[in-house]
Amino acid sequence: MRILVTGVGGQLGTKIFTTANHEKYGVYFDNFLSGDNLERLNLIERENTISLIKRVKPDWVIHCAAATDVDWCEKDKKAAWDVNVEATRNVVDGCEQTNSSIAYISTSFVFDGSKEMYREDDATNTVNNYGLTKLEGEKIVKSSGIPFIIARTDQLYGWTNHPKNFVARILNLAKKKEKMEVFTDWYNNPTLIDNISEVLLKLIEKKCHGIYHVTGSSFINRYEWAVKISNAFGLDGTFIVPINSSKYNPAAKRPKIHMDNTKTQKDSGMKLFTIDEGLEFMKAHMEGQA
Ligand SMILES: NC(=O)c1ccc[n+]([C@@H]2O[C@H](COP(=O)([O-])OP(=O)(O)OC[C@H]3O[C@@H](n4cnc5c(N)ncnc54)[C@H](OP(=O)(O)O)[C@@H]3O)[C@@H](O)[C@H]2O)c1
Repeated sequence: MRILVTGVGGQLGTKIFTTANHEKYGVYFDNFLSGDNLERLNLIERENTISLIKRVKPDWVIHCAAATDVDWCEKDKKAAWDVNVEATRNVVDGCEQTNSSIAYISTSFVFDGSKEMYREDDATNTVNNYGLTKLEGEKIVKSSGIPFIIARTDQLYGWTNHPKNFVARILNLAKKKEKMEVFTDWYNNPTLIDNISEVLLKLIEKKCHGIYHVTGSSFINRYEWAVKISNAFGLDGTFIVPINSSKYNPAAKRPKIHMDNTKTQKDSGMKLFTIDEGLEFMKAHMEGQA
């Protein structure tokens, strides 16, 4: 199988690109990467995007590239729209011309949090601009007629260098012995990057199609998560200070969205990790990382 991964310099794209056991191509944007079958491409540039897909002729495009800073998406709506909607349209239009399938990475923020738990067929409704643009991307994918997977995920973590990666931030601050204020009112289904990559590739290999909730199996708030990280890595947890997010009044609303991942585990035949299992995995793979 030939795959083309977008956002190959990002957290998820890197993992998928480096672990997929297939003929693979990748595109990055700002972060220069060198290696075989890697090239720079601004996905907002429509003609270049379509012509690259026509040149590669992938069986699947795994579209990880996005504007992922939720507060930035609230402040710069035009730029967020260009990356999350127009670039997705370009990728989809390229796939249409090559009969490629697409795996589009989406988010739990397509929901508003008014339900206790969300399954794949539940009605969407967004409360922030990031969610709105990602949902618009889903609509483009669904209405295109090309075979698709929409993989909705939440709070990716693992051994990555991304400055916003929650586990990495906690471990770095602990090292520096700095205090860290952590919100008690932001809830997530934290998702280990190694785990989502493997599960997503399995869904693709098994020729599954449709919408999937590819999220971790725990639903916890950021403070509880930070304490678990601290305990798992044997830290003195006194540097973690619980606070309510209203102290900082962030630009984007964060609804409390509990994702049901039953369908994904059943169709992939794979387990989506709890936070304890994910942290155990990280500890077992920390050589050269911490
Ligand atoms: N991170 C999370 O917790 C989370 C939660 C829910 C859903 N998701 C979704 O999961 C996917 C992967 O997230 P991630 O955390 O891996 O993202 P990330 O680390 O922020 O990476 C996003 C990538 O998109 C690329 N990109 C941005 N604008 C581009 C453009 N105009 N043309 C080409 N590439 C462009 C960037 O390339 P350069 O680095 O080269 O600039 C970057 O590598 C995204 O679709 C995101 O919406 C993520």
